[in-house]
Amino acid sequence: MKIFLDTADVPTIVNHFDTGLIDGITTNPTLIMKSGRNPEDVYRELAGHGVPDISMEIVTEDVDVFVSEGKRLKEEFGECTTIKVPCTPAGLKACKLLSDEGIRVNVTLIFSATQAILAAKAGAAYVSPFVGRVDDNSFDGVQLVKDISLLYKEQLARTQVLAASLRDVRSVSECFMGGTDIVTMPVAVFDKMYNHILTDKGLD
Ligand code: G3P
Repeated sequence: MKIFLDTADVPTIVNHFDTGLIDGITTNPTLIMKSGRNPEDVYRELAGHGVPDISMEIVTEDVDVFVSEGKRLKEEFGECTTIKVPCTPAGLKACKLLSDEGIRVNVTLIFSATQAILAAKAGAAYVSPFVGRVDDNSFDGVQLVKDISLLYKEQLARTQVLAASLRDVRSVSECFMGGTDIVTMPVAVFDKMYNHILTDKGLD
């Protein structure tokens, strides 16, 4: 039952990592741009603070670039490196090649169980179904996480489910109840996990 934070804000990550409750970080180009930082400076600082698992997204549609960049990042940052690729033909081909080299790959932008099947066949360490964005389109994001988790369990797949695009604490617990291995969430959602009105009342 792992919790990742979905942010590139280093001071906030360091502060939360100190709680001992955080197992990793997912980043993406939008989050890094928002932080105004160079991606590799962010990875370096996080690795220096002992964050054990950092998803580093590569943006290209060229298999050779995915693979060479993935290998370079692994060389540079070591065991904490997880390479994030999209669920496209090029991304999945790169996933297979990198996974064969023993590099962890997170296949992102997963919106169906069939995409999750392909990612598992490509040797992905993680798949990231986007719960909130599925909900935004009037489908059931938590149900997608449940379906993929069940499918992997039935097929004894080694790929882990990393539920992403979560916007509220209720979805966090529902994803875990539905069998997800990992949940990544914005810091604001993580902070709300502590809250209960009866805890406050009990303290009063
Ligand atoms: O981890 C994926 C996440 O960054 C996307 O979140 O809220 O933009 O759908 P959201």
